[in-house]
Amino acid sequence: MQLDPSQLSVRDMYQWMIHTILPRPIAWVSTCDTTGRTNIAPFSFFMGVCAKPPTLMFCPVNDRFGKPKDTLRNVEETRQFVVNLVPTALCESMNQTAASLPHGESEFDRFGVPATPSLRVKPPRVTGSPVAFECELDRIVRISEGPAGGNVVFGRIIALHVEDSVLGPDGLPDAARMDLIARAGGDLYLHKAQALRMERPD
Ligand SMILES: Cc1cc2nc3c(=O)[nH]c(=O)nc-3n(C[C@H](O)[C@H](O)[C@H](O)COP(=O)(O)O)c2cc1C
Repeated sequence: MQLDPSQLSVRDMYQWMIHTILPRPIAWVSTCDTTGRTNIAPFSFFMGVCAKPPTLMFCPVNDRFGKPKDTLRNVEETRQFVVNLVPTALCESMNQTAASLPHGESEFDRFGVPATPSLRVKPPRVTGSPVAFECELDRIVRISEGPAGGNVVFGRIIALHVEDSVLGPDGLPDAARMDLIARAGGDLYLHKAQALRMERPD
């Protein structure tokens, strides 16, 4: 089967993308608005970019009215955010925070997401998330305008939290101990992925 993206609706193309680009890690992004009110939402179009300087990215699309989601608005206004990774234990809480609440209403408060103050940025991190990246905005790249328009947020990692309990014998995070969930297509998530070791050629 072959598909020509130019013949597909945006909605259908999105379906093909989320059913093929997987497993996707989830950035559970906490932000504050200019008055300090907190916000948190999940984003699975998310990836690391490079370590020099330490950079990651995630992609909040515009809402169906063409408006920026609260996360993007807050990041643009305050230039700070935290990417929390999501363990199985917090998956339901993460899912609840995908609800679209009115701007300024905190998903932390509404859904009782436990928060811990961050070290270098104002938005709190999620208590119980095994890894959290405190970020300052590097840049936003606008891919398209209007409803479902794409935006890529690049963040400079300025502090990294790792729970001691997920460290393996080599002193680095152990995937099994982190027990992160990943997003697949539709409402499906993947977890407890089996490890496969393969040495890289020189
Ligand atoms: C697991 C998961 C992954 C998601 N990934 C994205 C994404 O990559 N981009 C996006 O724009 N929305 C994504 N969403 C939807 C947003 O979380 C949702 O629109 C949310 O209400 C945005 O909140 P905000 O307005 O507070 O920023 C995802 C939702 C879930 C549950």
